[in-house]
Amino acid sequence: MSPGLPDPDAPPRAPDDATALWSPTALLTDDGSPALWSPRYGQAFRSRHGAHAEARHVFVEGSGAAARLAAGRATRVLEVGLGAATNLACTAAAALASGAPLHYRAWEPEPLPAAALRLADLGALAPAPFVAALLAARDAWGAIEHGDVRRWRFATVDLELVVAPIDRLLDPAFAADVERRLRTPLAADGAAASATDAPYDAVYLDPFSPEVNPDAWRPAVLAALAARLAPGGALVSYSVRGSVRRALAAAGLDVRKVAGPPGGKREVLRARRPAAPGDEPVGWAV
Ligand SMILES: C[S@@+](CC[C@H](N)C(=O)[O-])C[C@H]1O[C@@H](n2cnc3c(N)ncnc32)[C@H](O)[C@@H]1O
Repeated sequence: MSPGLPDPDAPPRAPDDATALWSPTALLTDDGSPALWSPRYGQAFRSRHGAHAEARHVFVEGSGAAARLAAGRATRVLEVGLGAATNLACTAAAALASGAPLHYRAWEPEPLPAAALRLADLGALAPAPFVAALLAARDAWGAIEHGDVRRWRFATVDLELVVAPIDRLLDPAFAADVERRLRTPLAADGAAASATDAPYDAVYLDPFSPEVNPDAWRPAVLAALAARLAPGGALVSYSVRGSVRRALAAAGLDVRKVAGPPGGKREVLRARRPAAPGDEPVGWAV
């Protein structure tokens, strides 16, 4: 382990400031990648058993986004909890490798500053120019207010950030206003058609656990996310909690526990919207 980094197997230490969303000392996780630590929530932003492995296995590969992008297919991702942007970096790397268009919308109530993102070693996941441009964009955005939206583009990667908790999706007036504000700047650069809220090929359900972020796991929120999946699309998460699985099944998804990453959680969640007959998506290993 690198000097100065806490032992990931040690019990959570007493934080210096329990209100702080992130600590400037990252954990070193089992695959050698760092994970940010949240003193406020007493949880890491990524699995202690492998931060980058979790992003790659559970979210980017597990959802089928990696295979779609590798096949050159335009792909739309909806993320709950942008956090340290490891899922974004890993998904963007797949898009940049094939040149496939990636539309990535993330809901995040408290976007981390660039200083925090720098701790996540995103350069191990995505090309250096992408990471440098993302960090520069985050620096340029400065303080972001609740309810703000931001758009950013790098090559074929189109990022939309909604600065709000995902349960605001249930407020039709707020959701419509988000759409309107995301579309307005797009009209100028000719990409207005991409600013729509559905359907998504992948939904990354990645808030902190239901104990500390209960609003993000409400059945009504899960149903709203499920409703945004394209046929053949998948919602994925690290949590296989029964209440989450039941809510997604009630919303019409085919819900399964699938193998977690090597050395990590034994089982993780994949919930698919059934594909239209004869239109099976690429990349399914089940
Ligand atoms: C486990 S971390 C996300 C890790 C991230 N996806 C990554 O790739 O690095 C959880 C994130 O969810 C955010 N969050 C908490 N409550 C939320 C909510 N109601 N809606 C959306 N995001 C939420 C937190 O602020 C935090 O950034």
